[in-house]
This record gives sequence, structure tokens and C-alpha cells, in this order.
Amino acid sequence: MDKPRVYVCRPLLGRAMEILEDRCDVRVWPDPEAPPPRDVLLAEAREADGLVTLVTDRVDETLLAAAPRLRVVSNVAVGYDNVDVPAATRRGVVVTNTPDVLTETTADLAWALLLAAARRVAEGDRFTRAGRWRSWGLELMLGQDVYGRTLGVVGLGRIGRAVARRASGFGMRVLYTSRRRHEDAERELGVQWRELDDLLAEADFVSLHTPLTPQTRHLIDRERLRRMKPTAVLVNTCRGAVVDEVALVEALREGWIWAAGLDVFDREPLPADSPLLSLDNVVLLPHIGSASFATRARMSEMAAENCVAVLSGRRPPNPVNPEVLDRLG
Ligand code: GLV
Repeated sequence: MDKPRVYVCRPLLGRAMEILEDRCDVRVWPDPEAPPPRDVLLAEAREADGLVTLVTDRVDETLLAAAPRLRVVSNVAVGYDNVDVPAATRRGVVVTNTPDVLTETTADLAWALLLAAARRVAEGDRFTRAGRWRSWGLELMLGQDVYGRTLGVVGLGRIGRAVARRASGFGMRVLYTSRRRHEDAERELGVQWRELDDLLAEADFVSLHTPLTPQTRHLIDRERLRRMKPTAVLVNTCRGAVVDEVALVEALREGWIWAAGLDVFDREPLPADSPLLSLDNVVLLPHIGSASFATRARMSEMAAENCVAVLSGRRPPNPVNPEVLDRLG
């Protein structure tokens, strides 16, 4: 019998290609730094039983309609807002993601941004390299203390909890907001629940950890930015569109908040004319939350395992729309 055909949107890491090639006929977009152009993806999807996608690859109704054989979309990410999951579900296509393996790595990066924004790490580096450091100065590069302050976590899922857990080393009080109360976390981590608006008014650092959904798009809008302290730092490692970026630029420029640390943006890559680039009180990273050697290899392997499982008639470890599997029996 012919092997199922899989199109992979980027060269994968670790043992992922071996896992796929063992069971599937695999074609790969060769450029590690850029996604396949839309027309290439559409043409490849036409013949594919499985797709291995990244957050840069849009899987929408048009693509699904052009892919009559498709049985699985395996996203190499925990987030899957690049995939129209309801449309995939209607067509009986299983969607999978890569949760858990990237939790601690992403929490580390949220803390890197928090510390860098609070203590002006990136700005200080630019200043030093530019030869502008003339003397030790009492007022040189003053920043915000982290130790003993209040952290607000928006979205207490796996990554939100990992971020909250790290705060104990900094002697911080931790507030959280979530769709529902998490009494287990309140007991284990000592975190306290607040309404979002109250959390924003009370926290010195606000770290965002929600998936991007119609309900969370622009969750942090102009009014909510206005609620934050003028000394506050906003950290975003989830999805850019959770924040109204136009309002954020104004907030940073006008001093409604003190600084921000961003790994994700409304448009990625960040356009060269983005006003964020001209602001010193924001630390900008190129969407690298899960980018450690070990974690990216593990994510690649998980995505390969999810893909092969569906194409071998097995239940994949990480289905996003398990109702499709239940329907298939
Ligand atoms: C990356 O952004 C992910 O969702 O894993």
C-alpha cells in the first residue's frame, strides 16, 4: 500500500523527520527561515494526507476545501489560532498541537522580558555599545524593582502557572485572572484571584497567557491600559492581537505604563515601520518563547508523532478537536 503523503512547512528538528519518513511519503519546504508561499502550500495540500504546520501557516476554509485527502493538520506550537479548527472539524480533519513541552521554556522567556523591561537591559546594552557610557551615575538607567512587588497573571493555564511559580523566588505577591477560579492553584501557589480590571489596577507587572480567540482579541485595549499603574510593566508572550498595539504604543509614549516586553505582535515579522521600533521603553523579541534547542526538538518530534498517529489510524497524543476522532470511532 502507498504510504500516506505528508507536507511539512519547515525542516523539523530532533528525530522528527525520521519519525515521519518511517511511515509517510514526506515533502518538506526547505527554507528554515520563511514559510512556504501561499500558492505552494495550496498546491501541496491538494495531494496531502497530512500537513505539519507552524504558526506562520494559515490553514483556513480555502485551504481545507482544496485538500480533499487531508486527515490531519499537526501544528508545531501550543497555540493554533492559525488554523480554522471549526472548519477542520466540519471536514473531519484532526488538528493537533504541542502542549506541555514548551511550558517552562516559555515561562523563562516571559521572565526574561519582565526583568529586561524592568531593569532596562536591552536599552542599557544599546547604550553601552553605542559608546554613550561616560561615567557611573546615580541616575543612570534607573528602573523598577522586581523583588517584593506584585505580579498579575492573565490566564492561569500551564504557562501562566509556570510564570506564577517563578515569582516566589522574587518574593512577589501574585494575582491572577482567568475564566474560572483555580482553587488548587490558590492553595498550591498562594495566588489570589481578581477581576481583570482590578488586577490591572493593582499589579506592578502584568504577564499575558491567554490563547487568542474572538473573546481575547484586544483584551488589553485602550481603557484597560489606562487602568494600569504608570510604573507598571506589561509582558506579552502569548499572541500579539491580545493587546491593542496602537493603544499600547500610545500608552508607552505617553507614560500611561512604564515599559513593555513583547515577544509577539499584531503582524509578524514586525513591520520595519512599526512605531514600537522607535520606543526605548519596550523590549522586542522575534516570537521566540519556546526557542530552546531541547524544546524546539521536542515540539518537532511531538508534531511528527501526532501526524503519524492519525495517519496510522491511532489516537494522536494531542488532539485539539477530539470530537473528530470520536466521530471516526
Ligand atoms: C508559539 O507561539 C506557540 O503557540 O507554541
